Amino acid sequence: MTDRYAVIGNPIAHSKSPDIHARFAAQTQQDMHYEHLLAPLDGFLATVQDFVRNGGKGLNVTVPFKLEAYALATALTERARAAGAVNTLKFDGTDMLGDNTDGFGLVSDIVRNAKVAIANKSVLLLGAGGAARGVLLPLLHEQPARLVLANRTHSKALDLAHRFAAQPRLKVCTFADLDDSFDIVINATAASLASEVPPISPRVFAAHTLAYDMMYGAQPTAFMRFAAQHGAIARDGLGMLVEQAAESFYLWRGVRPETAAVFAELRAQL
Ligand code: ATR
Repeated sequence: MTDRYAVIGNPIAHSKSPDIHARFAAQTQQDMHYEHLLAPLDGFLATVQDFVRNGGKGLNVTVPFKLEAYALATALTERARAAGAVNTLKFDGTDMLGDNTDGFGLVSDIVRNAKVAIANKSVLLLGAGGAARGVLLPLLHEQPARLVLANRTHSKALDLAHRFAAQPRLKVCTFADLDDSFDIVINATAASLASEVPPISPRVFAAHTLAYDMMYGAQPTAFMRFAAQHGAIARDGLGMLVEQAAESFYLWRGVRPETAAVFAELRAQL
């Protein structure tokens, strides 16, 4: 019987995950089907249970259910625990394993695709919500020289950093105090959704700086335009989307799909 997978969220129709996973499945000749799954805002648990009862093998989880998925999982990977959120569930008949592949996706896109090492570099992470929290541990695992966390609401950055208190490379800074340039600046705020730019000094950008927006779209985001105007190399989060999907696929199927062609096809469709 064909194995069933889905991406669950609300809203969900816009998700590119079914398209990405269909391409991965065709490429690796996996007998699987991957669909959109809309859950009512108050019906995540019932929708998941129904999916599992009907033979579902795994789910990607998106807004607004990543915290509920975390609570539902009966086992968690280290990176899901650190993220405090789950974007991938795997069902094996007994356990519901919760993983979080977002940080892996970001790191892969920066290191392998953009070919920018994180090790020994200075990294600025903007934001202190779920998106920032999801990528902190995988970024720290790359051993940057320093990772500075800054958020519009400073207290939230302090709270988030507190969870990673054992990491000497992690520092917190206010937006106003940002004055030095960084090798990599990552925008994990939701500002791009409103076509806004976090109010930071352009001095964070130097000519070699990789300015990475975790959002993506047909046009460069406001953050990317701001960074490029100040000389940085701007990149959007489409590669992160494809790489986090590849890591979920690997967790489920034990096979690593090629991502470059899928990325190019998605880019052409935006
Ligand atoms: P997510 O799960 O996507 O991270 P979130 O938890 O709502 O969403 O967090 C949104 C993040 O974007 C926060 O860090 C928020 O800053 P505050 O903590 O100060 O609210 C940040 N953010 C949203 N709009 C922003 C803007 N226009 N400028 C700067 N930061 C912004």
